[in-house]
Amino acid sequence: MKHLLSTADLTRDDAILILDTANQLAQATSQGVGKLPPLRGRTVVNLFYEDSTRTRISFEAAAKRLSADVINFAAKGSSVSKGESLKDTALTLEAMGADAIVLRHGSSGAANTLANSGWISGSVVNAGDGTHEHPTQALLDAYTLRRHLREGAGDLAGATVTIVGDILHSRVARSNVHLLKTLGANVRLVAPPTLLPFGVDTWDADVSYDLEDALVGADAVMMLRIQQERMNAAYFPTIHEYSQRYGLNQVRVNLMNQGSIVMHPGPMNRGVEITSEVADSPQSVIVEQVTNGVSVRMAVLYLMLGGNEATV
Ligand code: CP
Repeated sequence: MKHLLSTADLTRDDAILILDTANQLAQATSQGVGKLPPLRGRTVVNLFYEDSTRTRISFEAAAKRLSADVINFAAKGSSVSKGESLKDTALTLEAMGADAIVLRHGSSGAANTLANSGWISGSVVNAGDGTHEHPTQALLDAYTLRRHLREGAGDLAGATVTIVGDILHSRVARSNVHLLKTLGANVRLVAPPTLLPFGVDTWDADVSYDLEDALVGADAVMMLRIQQERMNAAYFPTIHEYSQRYGLNQVRVNLMNQGSIVMHPGPMNRGVEITSEVADSPQSVIVEQVTNGVSVRMAVLYLMLGGNEATV
């Protein structure tokens, strides 16, 4: 695999290879072997034009655990604020020896532009581009689902996953729909009509406006953050009203299947899309998602820069 831009580019075998590799790397890490050697001498640049806690730190941890050198670049405080373009920034990083650029950008398609521009020879990982895609988030979500629903192996055939909230602005939802379908899961999307994207009826998912109906029979629920920073209009009357209709509380969790799990990509708006009681409950795997993110990002970097390129 040269680049990772979209989960739509992954076949079932590609996805399972990444998840299985993440599993092996997680086991090696938990056995306390310390740093693993495969990316020694390689350089990974985290190029972040948008804020991030989980994704940036976990890519840094993943690269370091594989012995890569890591350069963290935040657009804030850089020459981007003087008007430097993505092209010139990328050329500068390439000149410093970047083998892979992990890019988060506010514009949908930025990672594709960087990968297909010919500006750089290294690999590009999309770490979230506008409202388009966030493939490593979907991979870590699939890894987490597999651990809880399929004992960590195989695909997700037959599992039912309900994704709730601000689908309109969510790159996480888009990446998850592609990947979950590739892995055989049933996907339900729930949101107020104003927070569903145009053309959602063509997505490979059941769409509804009723949260409680969509939780009955679900094996997992993924709650999405209301992305107020991307909203330029009023999409619902009040936060309180949104929370009443689309917030996850314990009564609603109890509608799901036995053994079901509660997920959230973070950062959470506690008290808006999810109550603290649910976020901190035994059914919540939200903190574990962060841990799994390191293993999955190790697998992506390993397969991209150090592993068997012919396979993925
Ligand atoms: N889930 C996620 O992408 O979180 P960050 O914005 O903190 O990276």
